Amino acid sequence: MPKIKLAPSILSADFSKINDEIKQVEKYSDLIHVDIMDGIFVPPTTVDSNFVKKIKTKVPLDVHLMVHEPGDSYIKGFIDAGAYSITVHEEACKNPGHQINFIKMNKVKAAISIKPKTPLEKIKKYLDMVDMVLIMTVEPGWAGQKFMADTMPKIKELRKLKPKLDIEVDGGISPMTIRTAYDEGANVFVAGSSIFGQKDRIAAIKEILGSLKNK
Ligand code: DX5
Ligand code: ZN
Repeated sequence: MPKIKLAPSILSADFSKINDEIKQVEKYSDLIHVDIMDGIFVPPTTVDSNFVKKIKTKVPLDVHLMVHEPGDSYIKGFIDAGAYSITVHEEACKNPGHQINFIKMNKVKAAISIKPKTPLEKIKKYLDMVDMVLIMTVEPGWAGQKFMADTMPKIKELRKLKPKLDIEVDGGISPMTIRTAYDEGANVFVAGSSIFGQKDRIAAIKEILGSLKNK
């Protein structure tokens, strides 16, 4: 099983002082998860590549594009803004292989994501191209939703198929749910409201990671 990675999602942080917010969690973060929403693929809109450019951290930026049909120049904006990895949604792209290839051509890690109701079947042909798969554990669009345990069989099947692949989960990850996702085979954990929604972010992270210690 690949290394466990924690990816706090800044969606629940205070954007007006984002660099201070990130500084608080840097020590315990393997990635910083940045949610980009376009108002089309998902109803809300969030930040753009200009915002990402202003993020100053030594932690790699994990950019999650909840965006309909992201084009080359749009994706390039995030690459130039310093993205370490970029995730596109299977449901959002006519031919996700194009976006994956474009991201990799630019020497950035590429990932593909599926929503809770999308079967794993839909992305099997991309598994040898990507550096990571993001299995959404809530419907994309909002922080603070309830973890959907019925997505777990996809993680189990994917881990069997790809023992060394980074498998990320996003949505409703908390001290109560992280263990379930880990036991099924996930190793990259996005957490928004359970970290930045808490007053003491370090205590929150310690509690989340504590749930992964042997029981
Ligand atoms: C939701 C976003 C998530 C969000 C998770 O569509 O993709 O990254 O920040 O928030 P929590 O951890 O609160 O479910
Ligand atoms: Zn996300």
